[in-house]
Amino acid sequence: MNKTLHKIYIGSFFLVGITVLVLLGINGYSYYTIPIEERFFHSSHQSLKPSGIWGHGFGIIGTLMMIFGVSIYMIRKRSRRFFTFGYLKHWLEFHIFLCTVGPILVLYHTSFKFGGIVSVSFWSMVLVVLSGIIGRFIYIQIPRTIQGKELDVQELNSMRQQMSHNLYIDSTMSLKFTKDYERFSSLERYANLGIIKSLVVIIADYFRIKILVYKINKQLKESGVSAYRIKEILRTVKTEIVLTRRIGLLKTMQKLFRYWHIAHLPFAIAMFVIMIIHVAVTVIFGYKWIF
Ligand code: HEM
Ligand code: HEM
Repeated sequence: MNKTLHKIYIGSFFLVGITVLVLLGINGYSYYTIPIEERFFHSSHQSLKPSGIWGHGFGIIGTLMMIFGVSIYMIRKRSRRFFTFGYLKHWLEFHIFLCTVGPILVLYHTSFKFGGIVSVSFWSMVLVVLSGIIGRFIYIQIPRTIQGKELDVQELNSMRQQMSHNLYIDSTMSLKFTKDYERFSSLERYANLGIIKSLVVIIADYFRIKILVYKINKQLKESGVSAYRIKEILRTVKTEIVLTRRIGLLKTMQKLFRYWHIAHLPFAIAMFVIMIIHVAVTVIFGYKWIF
């Protein structure tokens, strides 16, 4: 998949997700926002209630999307037979898409009414989604190949050295005096940081890097460097700083990611187990949707 195709791939996920969220929200707004006791008299009650033709459908389609999204990613990641079947990174993006739109549909299925034992399933789902967002953040802190294989420190260091070398040739004059830059691109900065401190550093760095890039940009412009070169230099500066940080925090992030898996999975299991009981009960009570 080339860059443009990948942009279309991700763009279409966003488009579908936002369209589902907005369209269902607009169409059901007047129903979902009135008090529960008055809903029975609303003209959309028969279709939007959790057992209605639309409401019930949202639950079934949303649940199928989650089941598919989890199983397809796990199969692709674990089964040797599918190792060459597309990049793992793209499958993870597909997992995130299905497991975001699925919960949105389930949310509309509940019609914002979270009663009974099944609400445990609902809140577990919310926790899985929230922890998924955190997991994704940790995941991208661990450098990988496009196939999703983690890179080792040696490979990363040689990438970093190559980058510093390019930068040195490109902009010796302008960057030499930038002390901040040297501090940012030094591995010692990240030595002996615990998990909490590492997270604080990552968040604070986001803003610090922006300020540094702004300063360097100004310096380069004043020295008359061409706009094209400035763009190239700034891209390398940012990439090198981020790469240095990822090397410095690699062990901490790998540990955090292992802990994250331990926290994430039980919520997913709780959600599915209670959902199965919920579905069994509704089937026993005779709710059949369109079948
Ligand atoms: C994780 C997935 C699901 C969650 C979190 C969920 C959650 C809920 C909630 C909160 C309600 C409303 C309970 C109330 O009235 O207080 C409900 C009702 C209902 N759900 Fe689900 N649901 C899920 C999946 C499904 C699926 C897959 C089906 C069907 C195969 C289904 C069928 C129904 C039906 C028929 C009702 C209406 C029951 C009634 O009115 O007594 N749900 N669900
Ligand atoms: C109800 C929704 C979701 C469920 C049930 C779910 C379930 C799972 C499960 C079972 C795994 C473990 C896969 C494995 O170890 O092979 C996983 C991995 C993961 N999920 Fe989700 N997930 C959901 C939503 C999300 C969301 C919304 C995101 C991100 C925004 C996300 C990001 C991730 C990441 C980063 C991994 C780790 C991938 C890896 O280690 O290779 N998930 N998810």
